[in-house]
Amino acid sequence: MTEFLMLQPRTRSDADFTVDGVQHNGRLDIGCRVIHAALFGSYQLRRDMTVHLLLDGPPDPPVHLTLHGDKIEGLHPDERAIAGYLKKNMKSFEKRKVPANKGVSIDKRGIEEIIEDRGLQPVMLHEEGTDIGTYEPPTDPLFIVGDNKGIPDDRMDQLRSMDADTVTVGPGQYQAQQVVSYLTIWLDRR
Ligand SMILES: C[S@@+](CC[C@H](N)C(=O)[O-])C[C@H]1O[C@@H](n2cnc3c(N)ncnc32)[C@H](O)[C@@H]1O
Repeated sequence: MTEFLMLQPRTRSDADFTVDGVQHNGRLDIGCRVIHAALFGSYQLRRDMTVHLLLDGPPDPPVHLTLHGDKIEGLHPDERAIAGYLKKNMKSFEKRKVPANKGVSIDKRGIEEIIEDRGLQPVMLHEEGTDIGTYEPPTDPLFIVGDNKGIPDDRMDQLRSMDADTVTVGPGQYQAQQVVSYLTIWLDRR
């Protein structure tokens, strides 16, 4: 199982957003594209992937939303459908304390609990770090990716204090979903 964590420090921690306006909800559009990149191959779901979104915006952060590739049902690959899927599950969690779909979990865990409860080794994806070409990933990595503003400095400090590695996939500054796509293929080749 490979796990990705997308940090969304400005994304609302409730369902009060419109599916057509996810880019105005703390760039949840990037989260939707990361979900697409991690969970979809061509005409098939990648059952060996788990994607976490950490929603740290108002009104009541954190909300930790997980899509478990090995169990997920009802998820379709276009970005708008993914946004609708997230909204439906958030709404259900708000009303009934359970998500709407199988393979989705929602809870109030923060980053330390996510890492510790699942026994994962955090790996920050960043423009400056160990070159992926020479990097040997841990057995249970949690690859952490930032939004358009990058991983916040205080988050990087916190993760460094948890012995996180920092890895770069190449010399440029890439979009989050491009980095995730690249990593999924890199992992397939190993
Ligand atoms: C559009 S980039 C963020 C750019 C932001 N302006 C910054 O200065 O960090 C989105 C995310 O993709 C990942 N990323 C971008 N380029 C990368 C690279 N060369 N290697 C590894 N991760 C990268 C990082 O996690 C980054 O937070």
